[in-house]
Amino acid sequence: MPCSNNVLHYIMLKGKKILYCITGSIAAAKAPIVARELIRSGADVHCVLTNSAQKFTTAYSLSILTGHEAITDIFSSSSNTTWHVHLARSADAMLIGPCSAATLGKLRSGIYDNPVLLLASSLPESTPLVIAPAMDEEMWLQPAVQENIAWLKSKGVQFIEPVKGALASGLTGFGRMPEPDEVVKKFEALLKAPAPRAAKPRPLPLGGKRILITAGPTYEPIDAVRFIGNRSSGKMGAALAAEASLVFGADVTLIMGPSAVATPSSVHRIDVETADQMRDAVLAQLPGHDILIMNAAVSDFRPTDPSKAKIKKSQQPNWKLDLAPTRDILKDVMASRKPKQHIIGFALEGGDDATSYAKGKLEEKGLDMIVLNRFDQKGSGFSSDTNRMTIFTKSGLQKEVPLASKTECARIILSLIAEID
Ligand code: CTP
Repeated sequence: MPCSNNVLHYIMLKGKKILYCITGSIAAAKAPIVARELIRSGADVHCVLTNSAQKFTTAYSLSILTGHEAITDIFSSSSNTTWHVHLARSADAMLIGPCSAATLGKLRSGIYDNPVLLLASSLPESTPLVIAPAMDEEMWLQPAVQENIAWLKSKGVQFIEPVKGALASGLTGFGRMPEPDEVVKKFEALLKAPAPRAAKPRPLPLGGKRILITAGPTYEPIDAVRFIGNRSSGKMGAALAAEASLVFGADVTLIMGPSAVATPSSVHRIDVETADQMRDAVLAQLPGHDILIMNAAVSDFRPTDPSKAKIKKSQQPNWKLDLAPTRDILKDVMASRKPKQHIIGFALEGGDDATSYAKGKLEEKGLDMIVLNRFDQKGSGFSSDTNRMTIFTKSGLQKEVPLASKTECARIILSLIAEID
């Protein structure tokens, strides 16, 4: 029973709707006492339990204590399958305690396959989430568990640290959930401290911008089954699209040549095959966009007379192909660009003249920025997961980027684009 000092501590919880979630740990046996302490502090408590939690405590006792039916199933209400969205949006804070190592891992990985995780996934960013982990010391010290906690903290999740004491294994060590009145006292103190999740989100660097990105190779048909292409994997363009959408907050359209690389569902993807199809898609999409990043490795040549059938060896014992240049998409874009649209190109070059070729293309194609990739250096160019780049801008900036992941390269390029006015 809390002393009068504790009653003062609990003033923050008065009249607040608290989602109290319980996962599988022996400490779940303390859940009814935690719930009782929350209620005693004036909170309106709604409990949600995983299957494992129910091995240690019962939904029945928590329902009786709180006056609300404890939720134990994702499909808890047959008439309202989005119960988690409504419950999460109406809450003032969420407490998961005890929180198992598995729950920490799933929260970090975005695996929302039980009612507690589903509810956490629906919690608005401005609603505090507090976690009280409980597990045996060996588990607590696992690098994966500690990494998951660090990652969740970086996202603004707050923690009630476990304490040293008797553990379920019979051993004494670190990993024990504090006593229920301590949990509630710490929960209240964390709600009082300004939670980073509750902080006003900073405007995203490219929020509100519409970015058109081209990526991958193009394939130019020779006959029904053969083509001329190049070794571009689409990884750099896919990284640009993912980062622009997920990290920089832009609305992204990706025009992708043949590539097996996946892109996030937030990216509007248009798949094309040939340089002509890519050109048509770019010219159709460009008017609705503020920025074009022309990352695709567009084939410079196409067979002039592709066959609709598959050519037999006997038909062409010594086959010579006639090739014609494809249209330069960037040149066509320049003819129709609006004054406020920013255009960024890429240049794939090698040898001693790489820099002067790239600078030449920046000028010739009237670009705002060009990214030079070298095909003759280890760890850069097609298919690799890394890149080395030199970035040149119209205003004279030259930035060397040493070997970095394509995701990191994408961030650097997008940060510079965000600075163009
Ligand atoms: N590009 C384009 N249309 C083409 C070929 C290239 O828009 N038919 C774009 C690329 O997407 C890239 C830039 O032009 O942003 C430079 O491409 P690159 O292949 O390096 O140079 P090219 O202009 O094709 O010239 P060259 O191959 O002679 O170096």
